[in-house]
Amino acid sequence: MSQIRLYNISKIFDASPKEAKAALNMMAEGADSVQVKSQTGYSVGLYDINMTIDSGELHCIMGLSGSGKSTLVRHINRLIDPTTGEIWIDSPMSADGQPINILELSDKPLQKFRQSTVSMVFQHFGLVPHMTVLQNAAYGLRVRGLKKSERHDIARHWLSEVGLEGIEDSYPDELSGGMQQRVGLARALAVDTPIILMDEAFSALDPLIRNQLQDQLLALQAKLQKTIVFITHDIDEAIKVGQRISILNGGRLIQTGTPQDLQDNPVDDYVAQFMQANS
Ligand SMILES: Nc1ncnc2c1ncn2[C@@H]1O[C@H](COP(=O)(O)OP(=O)(O)OP(=O)(O)O)[C@@H](O)[C@H]1O
Ligand SMILES: [Mg+2]
Repeated sequence: MSQIRLYNISKIFDASPKEAKAALNMMAEGADSVQVKSQTGYSVGLYDINMTIDSGELHCIMGLSGSGKSTLVRHINRLIDPTTGEIWIDSPMSADGQPINILELSDKPLQKFRQSTVSMVFQHFGLVPHMTVLQNAAYGLRVRGLKKSERHDIARHWLSEVGLEGIEDSYPDELSGGMQQRVGLARALAVDTPIILMDEAFSALDPLIRNQLQDQLLALQAKLQKTIVFITHDIDEAIKVGQRISILNGGRLIQTGTPQDLQDNPVDDYVAQFMQANS
């Protein structure tokens, strides 16, 4: 069953609808984002993205720097609104079990949507420095209004699930990068949202620790079946963790498939080169 559906999502940054139209027309005629930028001055974040991410899937988004990966995931929790297109998401806040058109949510429901449905793990951990590990892991539950003993019990559980026991009272700057990112993961898991967005979450870690966190993520995923959208620019990481991989180039979605599909049937040289980097 699909959890996230994007229809015809385009994003032209900092342009009025009229200005954006000219940029979109150029893209429709086959221009690339570099040409659009040089002729109109506008940045194409994404162009005409159609994508479905299944419930319980670990879906990797790959592409070179500037290809639109962060722009794409930030649409899923509406940190960015698209210039055109629709986003439908299965959410526990939907009373009738039908997917929600998230672009129609006003401020309050949007806040509720974010709290109930999507959490995020950041590249540079995003921990609050003056809060302990336990308080950081419990942060999202505090925002939700759970009382202290309850949120600390839940946070303790998730800290132990990610292999962090006995350091609940430490502060983030006392921890290694790998440990800080485990706290970030525990914080995302504690709020129990069906969707977790991870934007280069392991990219700042050294290879050995990164490998351990990938293994841990896979073990947790086998148990929890979250819908995880995992951005990376490292094809080895994408192949290891991704059930499917979507490859972006210049704001366009070039190909989606299992690692094997992409390896066996790359649609173009860009995809083939990514896959070759692995062999
Ligand atoms: N807030 C913004 N305002 C203007 N242009 C932006 C903004 N955010 C992103 N862009 C542009 O949109 C394009 C896609 O950027 P994005 O950050 O999504 O790429 P990325 O694939 O995440 O890159 P990286 O691997 O470096 O993180 C780039 O050309 C970028 O300059
Ligand atoms: Mg990015």
